Amino acid sequence: MTEPTYLRETRVSYDTVADNYAELVPPLLVGDPLMRSMLGAFAELVRAAGDGPVADVGCGPGHVTAHLDSLGLTAFGIDLSPAMVDIAQRTHPGLRFATGTMTALELADGELGGIVAWYSIIHIPPEALPTVFSEFHRVLAPGGHLLLGFHVGDEKRRKTKGYGDLDMALDVYWRPPARVAELATRAGLSVQATMLTEPDARVPQAFLLARKP
Ligand SMILES: C[S@@+](CC[C@H](N)C(=O)[O-])C[C@H]1O[C@@H](n2cnc3c(N)ncnc32)[C@H](O)[C@@H]1O
Repeated sequence: MTEPTYLRETRVSYDTVADNYAELVPPLLVGDPLMRSMLGAFAELVRAAGDGPVADVGCGPGHVTAHLDSLGLTAFGIDLSPAMVDIAQRTHPGLRFATGTMTALELADGELGGIVAWYSIIHIPPEALPTVFSEFHRVLAPGGHLLLGFHVGDEKRRKTKGYGDLDMALDVYWRPPARVAELATRAGLSVQATMLTEPDARVPQAFLLARKP
């Protein structure tokens, strides 16, 4: 099957910026107590529901995967970009990382206790999002949790430069949390909580937690 253009563009773009991204972005998580609070709540819920394995989908350089590991979870990372996976594996040799796409996860039905997709659904076009949510629902065990981080808004932006002015060519989608919640619900997930930063933040952010019944 021919690969959709958006997947190819995303892979090529993140392969190009991977080194700079790995230097610039991971400290942002360390410096943000709100993000860590959602990841901490997610970790507690996954442990309470049986402590199944957790996939960090769109893991980039693997800092969130490593943070989940530090919270006691059995976490592994999946990313579309081989360069990102390579950096993640070198930086965190004790953890497991693999290339793959969230649109067709190479995981068995009900295999996971949790999924984190931290600023990775932002590159999925609207027509492909239902497939992604149905994949998330398929691979979660009953009682498993999903945690999403994404930019709030209602627009598509073309990104042509980034992470030290390197060339990129991909789309970024800012989304209304209610629309994301509706897609999760339609896929059979039950939305548990949404945390929003204030609208006057430079880029408003949402963190959405859902559970497979
Ligand atoms: C903005 S970065 C976020 C990386 C990391 N989660 C973080 O918080 O820093 C987006 C990541 O999602 C990955 N990605 C985008 N689309 C993907 C897909 N369809 N399947 C898997 N990974 C994807 C990209 O390769 C990139 O590493």
